[in-house]
Amino acid sequence: MALPDGFLEDLKFRNPVEDVISSYVSLKRAGSNLVGLCPFHNEKSPSFTVFPATRGFYCFGCGAGGDVISFVMKAENLDYISAVEHLCKRAGIEMPQSDYELRRGTENDVKKSRIIAANRDAARFYHEMLSRPEGREGLAYLRSRGLTDAVIRHFGLGFAPDEFALKKNLFLDHMKSLGYTERELMAAFLCGKSQKNGRLYPYFRNRVMFPVIDINGEVVAFGGRVMDDSKPKYLNTSDTPAFKKSRTLFALNFARHSCADRLILCEGYMDVIAVHAAGLPCAVATLGTAITSDQARIMARYTKEVVIAYDMDDAGRRAAEKAIALLDSVGIRSKILKLNGAKDPDEFIRKNGADAFRLRLDDSENQFDYRCAVVIQSHDLTDFNDRMACISELTQLLSTLHTDVEREVYIGRLAERLEVSRESLKSDVQRLRKRQEKTKEKEAFRREVQKTAGWGDRINPDRGRMRRAAAAEEAILGMLLLFPELFSDARAPFGGVPGITEDDFLTSFNRRVFTFFAQCMDARGRFDMGYLGEAFSEEEIGRIAGMQVTRAALTDNGTAELRSNLAALREEGAKQRLLEQESLSNEDLAALIREKRGKQQ
Ligand code: UTP
Ligand code: MN
Repeated sequence: MALPDGFLEDLKFRNPVEDVISSYVSLKRAGSNLVGLCPFHNEKSPSFTVFPATRGFYCFGCGAGGDVISFVMKAENLDYISAVEHLCKRAGIEMPQSDYELRRGTENDVKKSRIIAANRDAARFYHEMLSRPEGREGLAYLRSRGLTDAVIRHFGLGFAPDEFALKKNLFLDHMKSLGYTERELMAAFLCGKSQKNGRLYPYFRNRVMFPVIDINGEVVAFGGRVMDDSKPKYLNTSDTPAFKKSRTLFALNFARHSCADRLILCEGYMDVIAVHAAGLPCAVATLGTAITSDQARIMARYTKEVVIAYDMDDAGRRAAEKAIALLDSVGIRSKILKLNGAKDPDEFIRKNGADAFRLRLDDSENQFDYRCAVVIQSHDLTDFNDRMACISELTQLLSTLHTDVEREVYIGRLAERLEVSRESLKSDVQRLRKRQEKTKEKEAFRREVQKTAGWGDRINPDRGRMRRAAAAEEAILGMLLLFPELFSDARAPFGGVPGITEDDFLTSFNRRVFTFFAQCMDARGRFDMGYLGEAFSEEEIGRIAGMQVTRAALTDNGTAELRSNLAALREEGAKQRLLEQESLSNEDLAALIREKRGKQQ
């Protein structure tokens, strides 16, 4: 393994889990632990717990858990190695040299760091083209869109020359001279390979270039726009080991510093740039797709309010509605920005100026008003049936408001608007809420039953079938992860009973955890929760942290406890094998019965 001896221990020692987490979550002491509101799901009472003694965290509400590294992975949306890098920076430790082997993936995968390096050099190349004759057209186009040189520099915009027309290999020659291989350039999505002659060609040609920069300041992708009406208007980098479109927001690297009050969500690159240039550096955009739940969750880390500044055509409206619902589900209030007489923020600002835009921003409708207006507009209130349908839809909407005060206010307003009595609207809403409450309770009850039965367990699907075995396994794993030094005892035969092996484990996930643990102990002579990131997903790490945390209270005779759980597990194993035998040999069973009957007769 590539990490120098003691590196992770040192890293964790200098980044105490409670210190790191308290810069994200406000924590209160609870005995020897600390509790707070979970940053990974919405909750009103704290079930998120930090365990300084075991240097871990666990949320009893959503099952997120792990150590300081997995916390940073989740909170900052980083992969394992980038989280380690982040913590190194935080503590002022040098990152180990041989970081390549640390990266997950197979031998022939191009490393993330190479892709990031290639992107950075490509961005430089595209940007420098703007001051060269080959890029004259690109610079003229950007200026024609109202961008100043300062803005162009700030966003690192550039130009990819029309190499086919120029009959030159500017980009490829440059990148190769910097030592990038063809495979790396293809993996970074900067080049493609011709099927006809097998030659490499630059993916972006004759386009102005918008680099996408992540929150660590790394160029992870590009969007390239044509300069006329040809199609496709934009070409974008597809997902690479360094880039996940669904988890990235354009310009968040800038916006994250000034969006605590509100974030402006736009549809396109040009809109974001125009809004920043108008003196509001809190705008971001998704990358040519509808907003995803990952993106919503990322926004929730930085802000409480989002102003949606989408195009005001039908598609834009629908997208805005979807965004409101998604943002609501992660606890963000959202508002729709109404821009009359312009199709998008960029156009509005160019027509009316930055001040007019800022004014609009301040009186943008809140989402509830907006949703009501949409419902009312879509019905003909002079028609009796349509009017009833409208009232019932609004009742539905009113029932989603969380506080009595809000409901009171809106019921009053809407009753007036619809010319119905306040009381009748109010009692409709109350009746609906009661009904919803009942369904919710039933739903929660059903989920609880399923959870205790272990059904629907995605992480360890065997758990439902083998509950007792899983419980014993998890007790064993919890002990071992907490006290790795018990492993040598557990492995040794004891009183004629063989020591523990992976074959003792009956459920697939727990067996995987044990195998990984044993491998670490063999290869490195120690175990650290930090290693889990190399082989398990975030969700899985949460489950594993849960096993460890629930064992943390039991500290006296660990070996005895391990052995009794092992005995219980083996008993389950024996039962299981018997069951399998029985079901396997139906004919033998039939023979047995016949034999037995024969004896009785
Ligand atoms: P728009 O068509 O609204 O473009 O697409 P725009 O950003 O306003 O750009 P201008 O003003 O015409 O120059 C919105 C976003 O959708 C993605 C891009 O991210 C774009 O910024 N998109 C659009 C694509 O990915 N591919 C396309 O072909 C078009
Ligand atoms: Mn536009």
